[in-house]
Amino acid sequence: MSSIKVMSIVGTRPEAIKMAPLIRILQETGEIKSVLCLTAQHREMLDQVLSLFKLDPDYDLDIMKEAQSLTHITVRALEGLDKVLQKEKPDLVLVQGDTTTTMAGSLAAFYQKIAVGHIEAGLRTGERYAPFPEEINRRLNSVIAQLHFAPTDLARENLLREGFDPNTIFVTGNTVIDALQTTIQPKFSFSDPLLQKVDFSRYRILLVEAHRRENLGEPMESIALALRDLLETFPDTFLVFPVHKNPQVRKVVFRLLQDHPRVLLLEPLDPFSFHNLMARAHLILTDSGGIQEEAPSLGRPVLVLRRVTERPEALEAGTALLAGTKREEIVALAGGLLGDETAYQAMAHATNPYGDGQASRRICQAILYHFGRRPSPPEPFEPGK
Ligand code: UD1
Ligand code: UDP
Repeated sequence: MSSIKVMSIVGTRPEAIKMAPLIRILQETGEIKSVLCLTAQHREMLDQVLSLFKLDPDYDLDIMKEAQSLTHITVRALEGLDKVLQKEKPDLVLVQGDTTTTMAGSLAAFYQKIAVGHIEAGLRTGERYAPFPEEINRRLNSVIAQLHFAPTDLARENLLREGFDPNTIFVTGNTVIDALQTTIQPKFSFSDPLLQKVDFSRYRILLVEAHRRENLGEPMESIALALRDLLETFPDTFLVFPVHKNPQVRKVVFRLLQDHPRVLLLEPLDPFSFHNLMARAHLILTDSGGIQEEAPSLGRPVLVLRRVTERPEALEAGTALLAGTKREEIVALAGGLLGDETAYQAMAHATNPYGDGQASRRICQAILYHFGRRPSPPEPFEPGK
């Protein structure tokens, strides 16, 4: 029997982290020929992940340019992917999440009538511009995809509400939890000399990551000012902020935070370092999607620096709070937790609403089932089981 050709398309850091465990399993399955195509919407931040997870791309479109527009990413990715798809003619294209690479990847496959599997399908805020452009990217992916790999039951329900065929939806858990299981190491030592110098026994670590397009400009300034306020109020806190490569993020963060003696601004960390730093942090403040999913597994409370989130499971589990981007509100919420041990402890419990480490295995099995190589679909992910 011939093998099924599956092409994974990856553009950014989170896609690479979340696709790495799945690509590994696809490669190990004798029935699948796995092809990896990068748009390289990200460059350094993507290469850092690829080398760590030992992923060897077959194609690299290398489209990133400084301060790129959404149109630039879409046009360059579509043009490049069109050629690769014509050459490879895969049986299935896999895209992950909500980036513009993902949306262009689905569209490029659709134009050539190639089936699409969407990983992390069904997340919704219900708001057109929040997150921007990710909410609409996700909806476009859903319309195009034939296979929907929903991480949670809630995501599945969103898809059902929109009328998608239940037989095409598989609840798998999120592959980011698969990745987390390989990166977290109890005796991990940081290779970054600046991180080695941080006194984890003396300070409570506030770990921050923020980069969303809708937070650029004034919201990012207000986040940075809130962080300064917190450092002043709580002298036993120390802020670590690996700063995203986006120049619009860097400009604000370095201007407003660089001079503080209890602030460490770093280049983006590799996922092994970042995940192990999360495990040692007291409180995480972020607008990142992936970090919201990882933190509950590690028992680290998260303040979500957004007005709305498409990942409400952690809010329901009581390990995350929606803090918005207003200075006073962030200070009030974070200050409440830093000043009240009971409130903090109530949030600091490990739970895994997003996955059990088996998502990639389930997705692989669902693909084999779809192509008639397995008699039954995978059993769905159920939190707490
Ligand atoms: C993108 C995704 C976002 C995801 C985020 C993960 C879109 C529209 N946005 O946002 O959903 O949450 O990635 O981090 O798909 N840059 C570098 N080197 C890098 C990466 C970025 O220099 O390795 C700089 C470049 O100047 C680039 C800019 O950052 O133009 C913005 O990158 P882009 O991919 O457009 O947006 P992100 O904010 O990274
Ligand atoms: N991450 C990382 N190094 C960092 C910051 C984040 O490896 O310095 C990881 C993080 O653990 C998560 C992923 O990057 O797995 C999230 O990516 P990002 O925040 O860029 O995008 P989002 O998830 O918001 O789309």
